[in-house]
Amino acid sequence: MGFQCVLARLTYLLAGWIFISVCEFSEAGLTGSYVRDSGPTPDMPLDSDVFQVPPGYNAPQQVHITQGDHEGRGVIISWITPDESGSNSVFYWAANTQIKKAAYGIVVRYKYYNYTSGYIHHCTIKNLYFDTKYHYEVGSGNVTRQFWFVTPPQPGPDVPYTFGLIGDLGQTHNSNRTLTHYELNPVKGQTLLFVGDLSYADNYPFHDNTRWDTWGRFIERNAAYQPWIWTVGNHEIDFVPTIGETKPFKPYKHRFFVPYRESESTSPLWYSIKRASAYIIVISSYSAFGKYTPQYRWITEELPKVNRTETPWLIVLMHCPMYSSYVHHYMEGETMRVIYEPWFVEYKVDVVFAGHVHAYERSERISNIAYNVVNGLCTPITDDSAPVYITIGDGGNQEGLVTEMTEPQPKYSAYREASYGHGIFDIKNRTHAHFGWHRNQDGFAVEADSLWLVNRYWKSSVSTL
Ligand SMILES: [Fe+2]
Repeated sequence: MGFQCVLARLTYLLAGWIFISVCEFSEAGLTGSYVRDSGPTPDMPLDSDVFQVPPGYNAPQQVHITQGDHEGRGVIISWITPDESGSNSVFYWAANTQIKKAAYGIVVRYKYYNYTSGYIHHCTIKNLYFDTKYHYEVGSGNVTRQFWFVTPPQPGPDVPYTFGLIGDLGQTHNSNRTLTHYELNPVKGQTLLFVGDLSYADNYPFHDNTRWDTWGRFIERNAAYQPWIWTVGNHEIDFVPTIGETKPFKPYKHRFFVPYRESESTSPLWYSIKRASAYIIVISSYSAFGKYTPQYRWITEELPKVNRTETPWLIVLMHCPMYSSYVHHYMEGETMRVIYEPWFVEYKVDVVFAGHVHAYERSERISNIAYNVVNGLCTPITDDSAPVYITIGDGGNQEGLVTEMTEPQPKYSAYREASYGHGIFDIKNRTHAHFGWHRNQDGFAVEADSLWLVNRYWKSSVSTL
């Protein structure tokens, strides 16, 4: 064998080794190298500009909207009047017309320990045109306020649509940064998917509900103009028998209405909506979910209903992640995972978004559904039918980040980093969507982590399209 031949063989072997090394490296999960201050951070002071009460007697405040039906032609408009009930009407009109229509809502109030809420209005408007900008007006007399929203396109397989993702937001300066970054992201979220833990009012003595009001005023600048799709977290439970508060989710259920009956749910804590090309299933980590419970029964009847030819993208929202490699809250989602994960694989859920863990993490497509007590098969394995699990509990609340991670990083964990931020899930067509995670320290357009997702239902058709 000549010298040149030996050299060629060595070069070939070296190239092969480098190639294998790169593959192995790319298969291993990444952990962001940033070390952030993980300590608690105070909420913004009560006199912060973001909490400003709108001027005028009994002026509507805390205006927010969410989807009001199953298809996307409905909107629920909610607001609070502090002094008296006032008008319960919403006037609305399409942007290209001057003809105002009126819709009438309901008013609810609640007491929580020594706190009495304002007058909480909820008004559902239905049968709107798809893909249309509407203006709306709430209030009465000289004190009215106007906002606008855009209805989604009619559900269809190739309708592009962009969702934002925020979780565990709270009301600190970090929370404000997260919301600002979401608003200024050049990829414009059209609807926000919120994965639970809203105001963190329950961290105050007696769960001081005035911090629910400040939070409502804080998010209004975005939530009055685009729907926020609500998921409950543990900070919404507000169950404190020692002060006589024995009805779980009392403030949340009064303040945030969702169209749960439209998906034949019996509770606002779990429900579904269609929006453009996505089918979104919201479930509650803190409601009974075992066999025979209402939530179990609902989701087992719900998943077979999803028509992936109409809405190819099947998204599940929950608060407590099923896969998380952070030390804090480790394995809290395990009981729900054991019961629900086989369905997520069977029905080819595309992505599961969760919060709770105050950091970011993205999984590989893996499942862990083989275990049956005696077979010992309890290691997550690569599974092409499994969803990607994304934890986005990094909105920026007063409890701070969680920075302690299990080591070594498990193989199923593709990327993890303890930084505040938000996500963008950008659906392009029936086969492709792009997910980007934006940390608050970067410019608005920078994706600190990203992934092209190929739709689980339509993936076999990708090569032929
Ligand atoms: Fe939580």
